[in-house]
Parts: sequence; structure tokens; C-alpha cells
Amino acid sequence: MAILLKTVDLRKRFGGVQAVQGVSLSVEERSILAVIGPNGAGKSTLMNLLSGVYQPDAGSLELAGHRMAGLPAHRRARLGLARTFQKIRLFRQLSLLDNVLAGAHLHHQIPLWQYALPAGRFWSDWARSRDEAMALLEFVGLAGRAGERAGALSYGEQRLLEIARALATRPRLFMLDEPAAGLNASEVGFLLERLREIRARGITLVVVEHNMDLVMNLADRVFVMDRGVPLFEGTPAAVQRESRVIEAYLGVDVNRPEVAL
Ligand SMILES: Nc1ncnc2c1ncn2[C@@H]1O[C@H](COP(=O)(O)OP(=O)(O)O)[C@@H](O)[C@H]1O
Ligand SMILES: [Mg+2]
Repeated sequence: MAILLKTVDLRKRFGGVQAVQGVSLSVEERSILAVIGPNGAGKSTLMNLLSGVYQPDAGSLELAGHRMAGLPAHRRARLGLARTFQKIRLFRQLSLLDNVLAGAHLHHQIPLWQYALPAGRFWSDWARSRDEAMALLEFVGLAGRAGERAGALSYGEQRLLEIARALATRPRLFMLDEPAAGLNASEVGFLLERLREIRARGITLVVVEHNMDLVMNLADRVFVMDRGVPLFEGTPAAVQRESRVIEAYLGVDVNRPEVAL
């Protein structure tokens, strides 16, 4: 299997806080990597380093062999990287359809002047984008509400809309920061099934998540961070057996349970 995403010794410091240190990852194409760890572990910072919101202080990162360090977020998006944010970012006043079209726009690379001077290609691109956007809304179960404002959706629906919008960029690597946060059990079930389907369509996933049911049922590999540092990496089954992970989460020394809690 080819490695799609590779990082070597990524580091990022904010003032006195070493948010990410020594993170080396190899993510196989068409696999699902879950990133877990307590609050403040550096998971979102890692996502931000991968997507180009922040540049690393040191270390290298490659997507499909392209070096990404130094590239801004929009250039990384063109290389096939899409993401959602821990805090939802949607155009709340725009329709669901327009939110997804905003993602599709990146893919079709319609030059701005074509909006002022519509040529044949513009309209065919536009029609194709619209069809794709509707198919993506269908995919997340929101096609029937395409004309509504995004701000009218429930929290869980907004999360799904964000996924549709990110997919409209036709990513090779899709990263999600806590997609199940705030969802109810049936919404988490639907999310799990959709993420599996996204992978089945050939997209590689990196998922930061606290919901252990989702992580253990979804991921091929789990990467555990604590205080900026990699703690463990392995299969879901291996992670569940790993005492260091349990300690990081619960503050319990599993070898000396009598002194804990
Ligand atoms: N933009 C920033 N400025 C200053 N400190 C930050 C910034 N982003 C993250 N941090 C700090 O880096 C550490 C890791 O944060 P974060 O990556 O958000 O962790 P997680 O997503 O695992 O909860 C925390 O101590 C956080 O306060
Ligand atoms: Mg976070």
C-alpha cells in the first residue's frame, strides 16, 4: 500500500507551550487513522499543521510525495487535502446548496472574470458543480433541504453539511476534527456509516475524535497523543490493551490502581 500522508518530527510551539513535538506519521492510502488524546494533547494543532493553518517550527510533511511545509492552506487543498474544523465553520446565511458549491468552486477553478463574462464552459462547469453538490447533499441525507439556510440546521446536520462541503473539493485526504462532538447516538451511527462509505470511495481519512465507540469501530490505526507528544500507535485492539493510554485518559496508573483516583 502506498503512503499518502507522511510527516517526520513535526513540532509547533506557542509561547511557553510545546503543542506538538516529535510527531512522525505514515498514513496509507485508503486507510483511516484516528487521533486521540486528552484535551490539550495537541490534536487540533496537528490538524492545523497538516492543513496549513499553521506552519511547523520544524519537521517535514508530504502528501502523495509533494512537500507541503511552507505551502499555504489553499495550495494544500489543491493537492487534495480537505478538512472540517472542531468549531463548525459554515456560511450560515447561505443555502445548503451554496455552502457545498463554495467547496466545489475550488475544484473547478473557475476564473473570477468568467462570472462577469459568462462563456459556455462556465455554464457547463456550473451545471456540473450543481449536480455534484446535490449528489453530496443526498449523500449526507440533506438533499431535501438544499434551499434552506445553513443556520437553520440542527447542530448534527451542520456537521454533515460541513462534510458534504469538504467532499466537494474532491479530496484524496479528508481530515475531521471531532466530527461526533455534540451528536446523539443515532447521528453518531449515521456518521460512522458515512465515513466508512467515504473510505470505500477511495478517500483516506484522519479523524480526531473523543467518541471511543466511533474510533474503535472505524479506525484501522489509532495514534495517541498526550501533551504534544506521541504516546502510542497501533490497531484499535492494541490501543485498548495499552496501559499508557488508559493512564493518559483517566489519570490512573493501571499497575498501581490503589493510589489512583
Ligand atoms: N493558537 C494558539 N495559541 C496559543 N496556544 C495554543 C494555540 N493553539 C493551541 N494552543 C495550545 O496548544 C496546546 C494543544 O492544543 P490543541 O492542539 O487545541 O489540543 P487538543 O485539540 O488535543 O485539545 C494547548 O495547550 C493549547 O492551549
Ligand atoms: Mg482539539
